[in-house]
Amino acid sequence: MSIYGDYIKSVIRTVPDWPQSGVNFRDITPLLQNSAAFRKLIDSFVHRYQEMDIDAVAAIDARGFIVGAPLAYELGCSFVPVRKKGKLPFKTISETYTLEYGEAEVELHSDAFREGDRILVVDDLIATGGTMLAAAKLITRTGGHVVETAAIVDLPDLSGSQRIRDAGYSVFSVCS
Ligand code: PRP
Ligand code: ADE
Repeated sequence: MSIYGDYIKSVIRTVPDWPQSGVNFRDITPLLQNSAAFRKLIDSFVHRYQEMDIDAVAAIDARGFIVGAPLAYELGCSFVPVRKKGKLPFKTISETYTLEYGEAEVELHSDAFREGDRILVVDDLIATGGTMLAAAKLITRTGGHVVETAAIVDLPDLSGSQRIRDAGYSVFSVCS
């Protein structure tokens, strides 16, 4: 949890029963609309990672891009998109993962990193952890070193962050 964690949490809206009954959707759009909150959010990540020699921020399609692009800009490092299947034009490698219902796939360009590059993986939210873990595995497969996986929100009741830690990756979230 970051120093601004309680404040960031207070500007995230919960929408019950969306996109389906029983799901409490954590909606970050009020946070993005609030320029002071958005700045504090990006500053939280910058503060944590500015001394960690990050070579690239790998951000997950689509909401991860919102955090990943300004963070890469501030850290002065590369930005690499981890995209949903079928969106990247060059040679890709992919990782399939399980969703609550069915399967999904994320892809990465095969030339996205150099061997040993220090990578920070970012997304907006960790629920079951399937998306973040698939992205981290892809990066590991390309020879990148995953310094940490980071999200705005962790939903600990779904145990996703624990699952990512159990797979050997470090996890940070601004709030839970
Ligand atoms: C959401 C969210 C994370 C993922 C978290 O993405 O942005 O990427 O789900 O869930 P998990 O931990 O159970 O894998 P979604 O696929 O809804 O895409 P979006 O960013 O394009 O809205
Ligand atoms: N992605 C997966 N679960 C989610 C939730 N509860 N809120 C927002 N995004 C999500």
